[in-house]
Amino acid sequence: MYTQTLLSVVAAASTVLAAPHTRRHLSARADPKCTIVFDGRIPVNTAPTFFDTYATNTIYNPDYVKGNDLKWSDILKFPNDTSRFDGDKYTAVEVTISDKSIFQKQNGFRRAGLQFLKDASDGEGGKGVKTLHWSVKQDPARPLNLTHEYLNVWHEAADYSADQIQFQTGTLIGKSSADKNNFKVLDRDGNSLYSVAMDQKQWQNFAVKLDYNKNQATIYYSAGNAELKLVAGPKSANLAGGGQFQLGILKKPTGTSDVVNSGYQESNLNEGQIYGGIFLEDSADGCVSV
Ligand SMILES: *[C@@H]1O[C@H](CO)[C@@H](O)[C@H](O)[C@H]1NC(C)=O
Ligand SMILES: *[C@@H]1O[C@H](CO)[C@@H](O)[C@H](O)[C@H]1NC(C)=O
Repeated sequence: MYTQTLLSVVAAASTVLAAPHTRRHLSARADPKCTIVFDGRIPVNTAPTFFDTYATNTIYNPDYVKGNDLKWSDILKFPNDTSRFDGDKYTAVEVTISDKSIFQKQNGFRRAGLQFLKDASDGEGGKGVKTLHWSVKQDPARPLNLTHEYLNVWHEAADYSADQIQFQTGTLIGKSSADKNNFKVLDRDGNSLYSVAMDQKQWQNFAVKLDYNKNQATIYYSAGNAELKLVAGPKSANLAGGGQFQLGILKKPTGTSDVVNSGYQESNLNEGQIYGGIFLEDSADGCVSV
């Protein structure tokens, strides 16, 4: 599918004056160029059951965060697709939620979130200067319901009191639904750092540089296969508190003030968010892969 899209875009680009510029971006499948701290990319041909146990899963925590009665091999799908930083060695992974996506006794949420196996509440991921990369793509067979609030990528403080950085979509509870179709990057207080419309067709690539020393966040973004550009920051953001990253879907309910435990979720849920190119790199020396 990717190859077909690329060829048709190249064909179109060759007929316009901007072709050389466009072509440079299109050809730019990129390798990360900085030191990788946590690599969350999925090698091609990884068996779904790889994700189920510590004996096999060297990438993500097999036990968290997911429905009590589900295995990761039930939750994850593997669309035949690759994002900018996947190259030909890695492949996309889709995180899905269903009615069974209830973690512990959190009956309000439907959630499935990947945590890097080597991440820890007082670990490297929350110190120094680090850049988290992820790409997302939408699955027309498993659309999100943007009437709800979704938290898809975040760094949660070690004491669980806040998320220092939050990548969200849908209608944020208590806010206008006018921007429900946007991905929103927010600080721990819910202040907007960056916002961009969800693209229903192509990959969207995000990188957030977190300077834990200066308490600053910088956002990079591109669509399709293009080189990432700095789109926001550095902006001041309180990044204190250590903690861990999580990537997936956390769908909040509607009609409640107690989102963790109660509220409305429709039945027969079948939603997914496709991810690619997940990794955390060291940006202490200013290096950011684009
Ligand atoms: C995956 O996609 C590639 C490129 O479009 C194609 O060559 C390959 O046959 C596909 N593999 C599967 C298992 O569908
Ligand atoms: C989207 O969510 C709202 C609120 O829960 C619900 O009323 C509606 O039926 C859902 N739409 C779809 C297409 O599932």
